[in-house]
Amino acid sequence: MPESAIPTSRPRVLSGMRPTGKLHLGNYMGALANWVKLQDAYECYFFIADLHALTTDYADTSKIAPSTLEVALDFLAAGLDPKRCTIFVQSQVQQHYELPLLLGMITPLGWLERVPSYKEMQENLASKDLTTYGFLGYPVLMASDILLYQADFVPVGQDQTAHVELTREVARRFNQFYKLEGAEVLPEPKVLLAPSPKLPGTDGRKMSKSYGNTIQLTDPEPVVRQKLKTMVTDPARIRRSDAGDPDKCPVGDLHKVFSTPETLAKMYDGCRSAGIGCIECKGWAADALVQILQPIQERRAGFTLPQVKEILEDGSSRARVRAGQTMEQVRAAMQMSLRGE
Ligand code: TRP
Ligand code: SF4
Repeated sequence: MPESAIPTSRPRVLSGMRPTGKLHLGNYMGALANWVKLQDAYECYFFIADLHALTTDYADTSKIAPSTLEVALDFLAAGLDPKRCTIFVQSQVQQHYELPLLLGMITPLGWLERVPSYKEMQENLASKDLTTYGFLGYPVLMASDILLYQADFVPVGQDQTAHVELTREVARRFNQFYKLEGAEVLPEPKVLLAPSPKLPGTDGRKMSKSYGNTIQLTDPEPVVRQKLKTMVTDPARIRRSDAGDPDKCPVGDLHKVFSTPETLAKMYDGCRSAGIGCIECKGWAADALVQILQPIQERRAGFTLPQVKEILEDGSSRARVRAGQTMEQVRAAMQMSLRGE
């Protein structure tokens, strides 16, 4: 693909996702669906953060590459279009190994220790030894991901805003120490807060891979219907004749995100008057989910593995060019070049 296919006058957006394997509806609604909408208004870079996976999964790296390909397929299935955005793999762009070292030099330890997810993650993943340099330094890796593309905006969920804030602080500190012909090299990125509706999993808790309560983007219709059947409902609605309250029911929450206003009205009425049963109600929710998933699954079926690999290689080489420009400026500002001496 010619490089000129990617115009550069638009504000730049960058975001990434860890290679967790097949993505679920929560990932789609919380991030991907939003990214897809950004492709034309912004110059977009979307990547799979496989180096980030190393911060927790360093002892067994066998799942990282296969998961990276699954996530890439889900990106494409969701509608990210390699003609309109750059899709790449972090480990294939050497600048992602380079900038963290330089930014690490200027990042005070205290900034890293107070990142809220640091202690929390260490406790949640108590089975892994996360007292490593790499795990503590994870926010520097993320700051580098963003700053390498001199991104203006970073579309992320609420849980990542502290990391973007730290990225801004690192950029500010860098710009204070180093300038290039009097100018600042690393612009401070802004969060582009994605609208992320509350999406419950089948057990009523937040949909999350670690809870095993997800509906995957690749789930075929019968699987979606079966998962809905076993989904928890308003606990007050024990018998068919009991009235329920969709606002206290995870199935009701799914309807609110995916159903048409007509179905919603039918659902509220029917549930509160005990006019419908939960099985019928769940069938309607499943209909709405199947409709969302169908085009995603059709797009996915249109890609072969060699095509996906080619798209990632192509995107990664474009990313290297862009990140390389930033590194030139960074090295020049830090006077880490013998040229001109
Ligand atoms: N930390 C993000 C997550 O866990 C993934 C990520 C890595 C990222 N680098 C990024 C997101 C840069 C936005 C920008 O989901
Ligand atoms: Fe939930 Fe629907 Fe049953 Fe009401 S009818 S409790 S909204 S599943």
